[in-house]
Amino acid sequence: MDNANTSPGDEIRFVVDDAIMTVRDIDPTRTILQYLREDLRYTGTKEGCAEGDCGACTIVLGELDDNEQLRLRAVNSCIQFLPTLDGRQLITVENLSPPGGPLHPVQQAMVDCHGSQCGFCTPGFVMSLFALYKSNSAPTRRDIDDALAGNLCRCTGYRPIIDAARKMYTYGTRAQSWLDHPFQRDARVSHEEQRLVEMLKSLQRNKLFQMDTAGVRFFAPTNLTELARLTAQHPDAQILAGGTDVGLWVTKQLTELNTIIYIGKVCELSRVAVADGYIEIGAGVTLTDAMPILVKHYQELEELFVRFASPPIRNAATLGGNIANGSPIGDSMPALISLGATIVLRNQDKSREIALEDFYIDYQKNDRQPGEVVVKVRIPLPRPEQHVRSYKITKRFDQDISSVCGAFSMTLEDDTVAQIKICYGGVAAIPQRAIACEQALLGKRWSESTVREAMRTLQRDFQPITDMRASSRYRSTVARNLLYKFFLETSGFARLETRVYCHGR
Ligand SMILES: Cc1cc2nc3c(=O)[nH]c(=O)nc-3n(C[C@H](O)[C@H](O)[C@H](O)COP(=O)(O)OP(=O)(O)OC[C@H]3O[C@@H](n4cnc5c(N)ncnc54)[C@H](O)[C@@H]3O)c2cc1C
Ligand code: FES
Ligand code: FES
Repeated sequence: MDNANTSPGDEIRFVVDDAIMTVRDIDPTRTILQYLREDLRYTGTKEGCAEGDCGACTIVLGELDDNEQLRLRAVNSCIQFLPTLDGRQLITVENLSPPGGPLHPVQQAMVDCHGSQCGFCTPGFVMSLFALYKSNSAPTRRDIDDALAGNLCRCTGYRPIIDAARKMYTYGTRAQSWLDHPFQRDARVSHEEQRLVEMLKSLQRNKLFQMDTAGVRFFAPTNLTELARLTAQHPDAQILAGGTDVGLWVTKQLTELNTIIYIGKVCELSRVAVADGYIEIGAGVTLTDAMPILVKHYQELEELFVRFASPPIRNAATLGGNIANGSPIGDSMPALISLGATIVLRNQDKSREIALEDFYIDYQKNDRQPGEVVVKVRIPLPRPEQHVRSYKITKRFDQDISSVCGAFSMTLEDDTVAQIKICYGGVAAIPQRAIACEQALLGKRWSESTVREAMRTLQRDFQPITDMRASSRYRSTVARNLLYKFFLETSGFARLETRVYCHGR
């Protein structure tokens, strides 16, 4: 451990092995995986890619939900900084069965179904399956595929692992501890679980957490006023939310961060609400928690979110982080822009609200002023006769980066386009509205000939680049065809198969 600083600040406190562990004098950018393998010598958790892609490092974190119930979620330990563990429970593959004791039902199912060959990926798969086991008592095939979307296996093949996912629920009588009990809605909380809840409650903070070690300052404010004061004092600090972008800058680009302000404990940023005709999602809300409310109102966006990375990434990543990072291939922005979303920014003195599309200026350049943070995103509730779609085009179905992402929001009145917003990702330096195309459609009959004409105007809106993901020609063709697909899906061709994945299937 690093003892380079004389004023280390607060201790990181978390639950591991059913006891409270405290850590101090540690580099705040040390990842949970490094800490597990190199400090605790818990080497069951593996390192494959160190960038959130392979799932070898999957762990499960326990935390209190809004009702102070224990909630377990898988995350990638390779890109999470250790101080973000503060106040949580860490569950690793070592915890699932005692040394020499019976295997956990998930592990036993993997053995019985021959779900492991070289075994390198196996602890990660076991932890993703364990998270599923503890959150869903009767998963569908699609639920299982989704739970495993962030885990790669190069030798076993996925069929035996999927068999294990089904079989793991059949060992009911072997239950040894609360970890062995499968999820059951409304089940009584066991004595052991209640003890954990009490431990986690005792770890909750209501004042600033800070560390200053190994040349890195780490602040975790608990409210918005404190956050605004800190960002004013440290305008160049790195804001950290879920760390699924920032973590990689450290593990892959070897970026050295001097000052980090972690927003994961700011209570005002974790709120979701429906108010004044808007869905409001706090910038600290994870994609896993943002998804249900968005999909409740815009069911057609479900595919976009299910195909956003993988559950371990979505359990950490925030909508605010996706917006603030502003990658031209970020998946949420085209949909949010097409829906007319706005964002609220705040510094120490004032708040302002701007249209999301006006936030992006140029490649990796946005309108965030020094000291400002994104507080929330506001999405108008659906209008009658509004048709909404967002299509993500990638080489793989799961856990892949978009070559093109196209989002469409249109209101029809008597078969005429009364309102339309079209936005694409992956075709320009920023998420880009297709204004010429929209003009070609507005006020016209929603017909094949109008749409085909509008498809031609897309070349006036952007000239995509060629890169390793796709050529310019491919992107232009796909952008045109996505508009056509939108037309087919909204003009009475309802029975046409245009999707791999549809809601509820
Ligand atoms: C394996 C993998 C798969 C991925 N797949 C996808 C995908 O399918 N689609 C996609 O779009 N992205 C994907 N990503 C990228 C990433 O997950 C998203 O961009 C995510 O939403 C970032 O959120 P975060 O909370 O992790 O942000 P962080 O990494 O914490 O921060 C990202 C940036 O936003 C800034 N920031 C965060 N919150 C705020 C705030 N409130 N105010 C001001 N600035 C802020 C940070 O300073 C930083 O610059 C993937 C990443 C990985 C590692
Ligand atoms: S090591 Fe590959 S996801 Fe973490
Ligand atoms: S068993 Fe070898 S990588 Fe999965």
